[in-house]
This record gives sequence, C-alpha cells and structure tokens, in this order.
Amino acid sequence: MVLPTVHDNVKISSTMDDCEIPQHVAIIMDGNSRWATARGLPRIAGHRAGAQAVKRSIEFAIEKQIKWLTLYAFSSENWQRTPEEVSDLTGLLKFYLKSEVKKLHKQNIRIRIIGDITRFDQNLQNDLHAVEYLTKNNDALVLTLALSYGGRGEVIQAVKRICQDRVDKLLDSRDITEDLFASYLFTADIPDPDLILRTSGESRLSNFLLWQAAYAELIFIDTLWPDFDKEDFDRVIDIYIRRERRFGARPGLEDSE
Ligand code: IPE
Ligand code: IPE
Ligand code: MG
Repeated sequence: MVLPTVHDNVKISSTMDDCEIPQHVAIIMDGNSRWATARGLPRIAGHRAGAQAVKRSIEFAIEKQIKWLTLYAFSSENWQRTPEEVSDLTGLLKFYLKSEVKKLHKQNIRIRIIGDITRFDQNLQNDLHAVEYLTKNNDALVLTLALSYGGRGEVIQAVKRICQDRVDKLLDSRDITEDLFASYLFTADIPDPDLILRTSGESRLSNFLLWQAAYAELIFIDTLWPDFDKEDFDRVIDIYIRRERRFGARPGLEDSE
C-alpha cells in the first residue's frame, strides 16, 4: 500500500464539480510475476494469486456501487510472452470462466469482452461469447474484460470499418465526429473511464484504452496486483474523490459570474 503523494492530498478548490464515486473504474492489473518471483514461485503462481485479487476487486466494486469495472487481463503485446506463459494465462481464464460465471450471473453482473479474441482457440472464444450472452441483461455491474486487447489495434479496426462503411455508402466523411468514431470502438456503449488505476509502480498505459483515457484520472500505486486489497481500493477511491476534474474548463468560473 502506497500513500498518495502530497499533490494527491491537496484539494485545490471546491468550486468545480467535486468528484464523486467514479462510475467507471478501469484497472491495469500489473505485478503478478514480480509477486511470484519475490516468493521464489513460478510466474503462474502470481497469475493465480492475481485471479483472487480480481475476485476481490469485483466485490469492492459492487460494495462501492461502481457501475462499470474494466480489467486489463491480457494485452495484444502479451502474445509475445513464452507459449508456456500464454497457455498458463488462457488456462486460468478458462478455469475461472467455468468456476465463477454462475456466481457472477447470480450477482446480476454483466460480462463484456473487449479485444481481438479471434486469436484465442475456438473453445475459449465460444466460452467468452456464451458468457456475454448469458449475462447480457444483467445490470448491477458491467464487468468488461480486456483480452488480447490493444488500444492502437482497436483504433485501427475502427478506421477500417469506417472506411468500409464509407465505401458501402453507409456514411459520408462529414458524418465522422468524435461520437461516431467512438461508436466503432470495442467500448461503443461503455462510458469513458473516470479512473484508470495501475498497480505495481509502473507509470504507463501499456496500450490500454488510449482513446477512452482522454480525461480519465490516472492513479499509480506500488502495490503488486496479487496484494491488492480493500484498503488499497478505498485509498484509490479517496485519491480520486480529492482530485478536481476540469475537462479543460476554467476552475472557479461559476463563482466569479
Ligand atoms: C500482469 O502481471 C499480468 C499480465 C500482464 C498478464 P505481469 O506478468 O506483467 O507481472 P510483472 O509486471 O512482470 O511483475
Ligand atoms: C500491461 O502489463 C498489460 C496487463 C496488465 C494485462 P504488462 O506487464 O504487459 O505491461 P508492460 O510490458 O510492463 O508495459
Ligand atoms: Mg507487467
């Protein structure tokens, strides 16, 4: 658990809209391998412990009445890891889909997948589609799993589909607005994240939600993902609430007019 920096403790002004509980929290769940290495364990042990932290974070999100939780579980660049690690990760994913889905469905959680899942084996693709279909009417929490996901790839597939729709005369170049572009992204009907959290001390996005992150509050903590607990979650929400979101506007304007 890392204390917020001094800046994070300073409330600059209460004149703009003070942040409330974030509606959409997106998490870059990083640090599994370092957690395992520090214990002399194989990397898979870190990923298994990371899966337990996923379960905890879903519980915290529900407790806090967060409406959208997006978890970066496997990036398009993670395909570069060894075949053994990729197979361990996909194996874990299959295992947890089977063991957790009923419970998540009972909790009224909708599961969404973003990313290029055609790179996974057909069985896993079928399981992922089935889970999305089963939970499609649930609305307590939308849990989006970013799998084989990369922000640049997501933008490119959007551009290709827009070009095709232009060729098919379904749209005109003048129709291309930010909203239209966003509707071609995997996240089409998901609001932009209010908060992007990364664990493990790294301060980078690693190709996560590049378009959608435009005005997200970014919070980086040193905790390794398998250690992520309720205290971390509370602290992160607290840092977020103390932030002042400006969206490019002038703070305090409404006081002077
Ligand atoms: C995050 O843990 C999980 C994935 C990227 C799949 P890492 O395996 O990246 O762990 P570190 O960052 O090397 O410790
Ligand atoms: C980002 O973590 C991807 C996920 C957490 C799924 P990485 O560990 O792959 O990112 P880098 O390599 O440190 O940027
Ligand atoms: Mg990592």
